[in-house]
Amino acid sequence: MDYDIWKATELTEKYLSGVRGAIPLAKEQIELMLRIIDACNIKVERILDLGCGDGILAASILQKYTDASGVLLDISEPMIQVAKNKLVKYKEHFDFVLFDFGESRWAERVKAKGPFSVIISGFSIHHQTDERKQKLYSEIFNLLIPGGLFLNLENVSSSTKWVSSLFDEYFIDSLYNMHLLNGDGITRQGVSEEWYHREDIEVNKLAPVEKQCEWLREIGFCDVDCYFKVFEIALFGGRKPR
Ligand SMILES: C[S@@+](CC[C@H](N)C(=O)[O-])C[C@H]1O[C@@H](n2cnc3c(N)ncnc32)[C@H](O)[C@@H]1O
Repeated sequence: MDYDIWKATELTEKYLSGVRGAIPLAKEQIELMLRIIDACNIKVERILDLGCGDGILAASILQKYTDASGVLLDISEPMIQVAKNKLVKYKEHFDFVLFDFGESRWAERVKAKGPFSVIISGFSIHHQTDERKQKLYSEIFNLLIPGGLFLNLENVSSSTKWVSSLFDEYFIDSLYNMHLLNGDGITRQGVSEEWYHREDIEVNKLAPVEKQCEWLREIGFCDVDCYFKVFEIALFGGRKPR
């Protein structure tokens, strides 16, 4: 699979030490995620984080819902290792699963740990084809409790190249500001060149958020919406009817 690039330690480190920290409005995205979970009025018992990376999203939920348990799934061994280290104090709460959600068998692998109150995913599903994204959303629906919530914090496509360029420049500024704070001497030109030649650009299969919300409605999710969007970063999802 082309998204195998994530199995490399180098890309993992580059993402965690650079790109993740530069995501604009990242704190607000997590606050919104928690607010939406809270508004669901469900017992947050079991959670599933798909493409968990270092576990940032699952950890944020666990800080608030301290009794929750669940599964963190990722295709990348180095990422799973970082997640295990970072979440060491919650190790009794989580199973760390090394698996590819590009294969339908992933659902069987985690089924015994479900059904889940909340399923989240951060910047991960956009490497799948549109056909696979739709199947994956159905598989997620089947793993939720009635009233359960799916939230996808995700890279989505822009409507035109010009809009996409707004996002690129916005993100480059954010990365550059982070480098300025770190005092590592990299120029904006340098940041820009790295951004346009980044490794994962080739394996992105971004889809419009409107289309993805429509797929969720067709599957049976309710209260589907794009709850937040800034250029190519969106937080969208829906609830499984009770
Ligand atoms: C950009 S990182 C995001 C990590 C984390 N969710 C976050 O919000 O920071 C994408 C993660 O998805 C994982 N990933 C990508 N494709 C995957 C797949 N098909 N199955 C499981 N994990 C996948 C990568 O290994 C990586 O850890």
